[in-house]
Amino acid sequence: FGRKCDSPLQRTPNKQEVKVKKYLKPFLLSQEKLQEISARLKKNMIQGLGKHTHHKAPVKMLPTFVRATPDGTEKGDFLALDLGGTNFRVLYVRVMEEEQKVLKMDSQICAIPQDIMRGTGEQLFDHIAACLADFLDSQNLKGQTLPLGFTFSFPCEQIEIDKSILIHWTKGFSCSEVEGKDVVKLLRDAIHRRADYDIGSVAMVNDTVGTMMSCGYKDQSCEIGMIIGTGTNACYMEEMKNVKRVEGEDGRMCINTEWGGFGDDGSLEDIQTQFDVVVDKTSINPGIHIFEKMISGMYLGEIVRLLLVKLTEDKLLFKGKTSEALLTPGRFETRFISEIEEQDRGLKNCQNILTELGLKWDSVDVRLVRLVCDTVSIRSAHLCAAALATIVNRIRENRGLDYLKTTVGVDGTVYRKHPNFSDKLQAMVHRLAPNCSITFLVSEDGSGKGAAMVTAVAQRQALSHLLEDSDSDRKEDEEEDK
Ligand code: GLC
Repeated sequence: FGRKCDSPLQRTPNKQEVKVKKYLKPFLLSQEKLQEISARLKKNMIQGLGKHTHHKAPVKMLPTFVRATPDGTEKGDFLALDLGGTNFRVLYVRVMEEEQKVLKMDSQICAIPQDIMRGTGEQLFDHIAACLADFLDSQNLKGQTLPLGFTFSFPCEQIEIDKSILIHWTKGFSCSEVEGKDVVKLLRDAIHRRADYDIGSVAMVNDTVGTMMSCGYKDQSCEIGMIIGTGTNACYMEEMKNVKRVEGEDGRMCINTEWGGFGDDGSLEDIQTQFDVVVDKTSINPGIHIFEKMISGMYLGEIVRLLLVKLTEDKLLFKGKTSEALLTPGRFETRFISEIEEQDRGLKNCQNILTELGLKWDSVDVRLVRLVCDTVSIRSAHLCAAALATIVNRIRENRGLDYLKTTVGVDGTVYRKHPNFSDKLQAMVHRLAPNCSITFLVSEDGSGKGAAMVTAVAQRQALSHLLEDSDSDRKEDEEEDK
């Protein structure tokens, strides 16, 4: 049960606690179980990469058309849009070659109201285009047509760097008329409808890719991007010869794994608890992103709430007396888990939160609620560790190495804000991938800056192709002249 000497439960175990621990048992995953899960994910990843197996693969392994990580020579000014996390953001970013820095010049957060998140696609993109217009006005940039990096953090089938089809919505979104459509076109159409400004070339990226790329400017061995926030996902550089759905055998391409979809074929039923099943059934997208629903910020609070409701019903908490707030879906926020697990203030925070939820608690209740939070967050960290271990082990095997040293760019509220999530995750990855040494780089503004970075790398590559082409044209001309 995670905490050792600081666990208040170890001081005064009693019958109530022993009973509560029985409810928590299904959340405890042994190292062997995690290894087994990692092996399952590995199979699913291979299935997702395969030409003939991809269509029914729960882990989609989407090619991103990002073929190179930054080499430090990128530069220029860019706009970036970031949709899919807690907030929608617009950024103005400068990539500076001399200092190998990505500078955020300015940025603006725009709220996306619930009715727009669940309205029509046209409303959503009109709203985005309007936010961008406001921002350009405030920066005096409306006359320029800057290249734009668009971080769109949902599973997309990328056709080109600027053509990307939404497979399905995840997290809280469900706008109509977007699934199956090219998201870049929807954005451009919305901007053209306004006709008061324009944008240059567009590069579409997933937030995992943005995170990897923004860290990649600082640390060129950064070849993995991972998000543990509202949702969870990771990307990594895969050998082209294994990316069967894209022509070409040479070099590498970044693959957006969409590991949140792991389990969508029922393969995680053995570890899903009754609470996970309810979280999935009552979500707006039942059956989709089962793994994500056991891990990410959008769902952790709800898992804890359902556990607390059950323990109260069975008279193991709050003397069996529940409250209206506790019975309300969504009322136990994921940030409460972080607050309750704080080292020094945790118990005090827990008391305040329970009082605010209208519950009458005693000191045992408080300690048990903390134990519930601990258990749910550790399971999340360990499941992420199993998934990350699958990726690092794969990269190591791909390259025929005995030992791999690599860097993971990470972002997301759960990873950043939870007091010991990152420690638990890192310790478990270390055990599950003993032949890999991993540096974790928390990315600052990763998805926004990273989108600009992808645009910059795409421009650098387009430029070098252009130069190569003109070089070979020149050589052909010379040959002909002879
Ligand atoms: C969801 C999305 C995925 C994104 C992740 C983290 O899993 O499907 O594209 O990367 O959330 O934001």
